[in-house]
Amino acid sequence: MNKFAIPLIEAKGIHKSYGEGLHVLKNIDLTVSEGDSICIMGASGAGKSTLLHILGTLDKPTQGEVYFKGSKLSEKSDAELSRFRNRAMGFVFQFHYLLKEFNALENVMMPCRIAGMSERESRRKAEELLIDLGMQNRMDHHPTELSGGEQQRVAIARALSMRPDILFADEPTGNLDSQNTLKIQELFFALKKKYNLTLVVVSHDIDFAKKFPKVYRLKDGQWSR
Ligand SMILES: Nc1ncnc2c1ncn2[C@@H]1O[C@H](COP(=O)(O)OP(=O)(O)O)[C@@H](O)[C@H]1O
Ligand SMILES: [Mg+2]
Repeated sequence: MNKFAIPLIEAKGIHKSYGEGLHVLKNIDLTVSEGDSICIMGASGAGKSTLLHILGTLDKPTQGEVYFKGSKLSEKSDAELSRFRNRAMGFVFQFHYLLKEFNALENVMMPCRIAGMSERESRRKAEELLIDLGMQNRMDHHPTELSGGEQQRVAIARALSMRPDILFADEPTGNLDSQNTLKIQELFFALKKKYNLTLVVVSHDIDFAKKFPKVYRLKDGQWSR
């Protein structure tokens, strides 16, 4: 790797506190290079989601700085951050957060439409992903007409419809049965390869974590071995 390459994300000295007593993250450093597959593990309450949200610009640190491709995120306005999030980052959570008024295809097209992409181009991008995810026969179904595994596939397709650089996932299989869990875990790596993604995944599934070349553990708000 080019040693002069700028990391995709660099978090330096990140602290996060809530009120006086709760110091959730304590001086966390993390470098995410382009093409990395990183799994963040840790017990419930360790601060995993808090860290993921800060890396993904959904939350701000109390102290410390996050750089995206070398630029300081603290210097960007909320409008700049949300535009940038829409283009560069995809998110998958434990729950799918699909809009129930819209069918699968429309849900996946949404980020592209919000970004001002044409209907035709948005549809092309969304359909390609839904096909990759084995959802070609479910595109016109509404979320309530889909199984849990199918809903999560649509949520993954939506996260990637803008072809982001980085995919963040917070316990993406936490709500699925074991069969779907395995399939979706495999899909993450297939999608990473096809779309040249950088992956940052929070999970406490040890079997999933084993498939990542880089695993970090959070304990009491700090990295532990
Ligand atoms: N908005 C908030 N206000 C107050 N405390 C919070 C907030 N969000 C998270 N916490 C607390 O921070 C700690 C870490 O939470 P979280 O990052 O969600 O952990 P994890 O994802 O590892 O389970 C927990 O004690 C949680 O209760
Ligand atoms: Mg969490």
